[in-house]
Amino acid sequence: MHLGRTTLSQFLIQQLKGSDQQAALADLLVDIAAAVKAISSMTAKGALAGVLGSLESQNVQGETQKKLDLLSDKAFINTFHLGGLVAGMASEENEHPIVFDDLEAPGAFLAVFDPLDGSSNIDVNVSVGSIFSILKAPEGRLPGLADFLRPGKEQIAAGYAVYGPSTMLVLTVGQGTHGFTLDREMGNFILTHPNIQIPAQTSEFAINTSNERFWELPVLRYIEECKAGKTGPRGRDFNMRWIASMVADVHRILMRGGVFMYPRDTKDPSKPGRLRLMYEANPMSLVVEQAGGKASTGHGRILEVQPDQIHQRVPVILGSSEEVDRIAGYHEAG
Ligand code: AHG
Ligand code: MN
Ligand code: MN
Repeated sequence: MHLGRTTLSQFLIQQLKGSDQQAALADLLVDIAAAVKAISSMTAKGALAGVLGSLESQNVQGETQKKLDLLSDKAFINTFHLGGLVAGMASEENEHPIVFDDLEAPGAFLAVFDPLDGSSNIDVNVSVGSIFSILKAPEGRLPGLADFLRPGKEQIAAGYAVYGPSTMLVLTVGQGTHGFTLDREMGNFILTHPNIQIPAQTSEFAINTSNERFWELPVLRYIEECKAGKTGPRGRDFNMRWIASMVADVHRILMRGGVFMYPRDTKDPSKPGRLRLMYEANPMSLVVEQAGGKASTGHGRILEVQPDQIHQRVPVILGSSEEVDRIAGYHEAG
């Protein structure tokens, strides 16, 4: 029995003992932690390091890229390339997947990630994060686009880093969701939140209400009932929070419960939601489910959605299981 503090590496050696592939996955997650440390140090320096502000460029989704979006993307790409454990990767900031075809042998994994989530919060010193999803790579050959387009239930690991007052890494390898806090003096992530459990009930919701006029009826009904509080059908008061960094909003829900929604709306009929399936919704859904919560599109489990594009969007309703069930029920009722 290990007494004292458990580092991320010690924890992963314990959770991933067995096959060579599992040991390699532990190595990959330690590599990801190294990229997270580099990004944490950049975000912490902020204006002092000249990393704030926007670039001239736009990503494939037409969003103006921030300096930190691209610096974080580079930190992950370099880490994955040098580590040699990843055969290919896809990210929010790159239109097409990047395949590492110069390795001695292709790596065993594929990485899909949002290098910097919550970009609108960078310049105002509000929490941002990184989100990652790990899939199995095909054996004995380089990956193609189809190898990335796997439903979220096939993820073998997923997690996020939140760069807040402290930097935390929260991850799952399919055996619960666990949180680690960066000890900056030691340079190590320490297990501080083992086996996170999201309470099944909550009185807190997170949604961007400026989109209310575009919402569908089930979402309108749910939020109206929450806002009616004690005087409405729910018979109790609700509270609302919206940080506008999915990572920070989901982290709060993992810590104390709540429901987070970026539902389908009619704002832009060509987009079935705001958030991206492969590098926002899927990894967060696995983390949430492994913590006893639920994640739904309103019409089914997010992790069952078959992707057909790297950057496709999806409606997201996740968090405390009883509230997610209730909202899905309102969708079923029409
Ligand atoms: P990103 O910065 O990676 O593009 O993601 C931003 C996302 C997500 O973090 C957040 O929940 C949502 O956009 C915020 O949307 P609003 O601007 O509508 O609040
Ligand atoms: Mn994002
Ligand atoms: Mn992003």
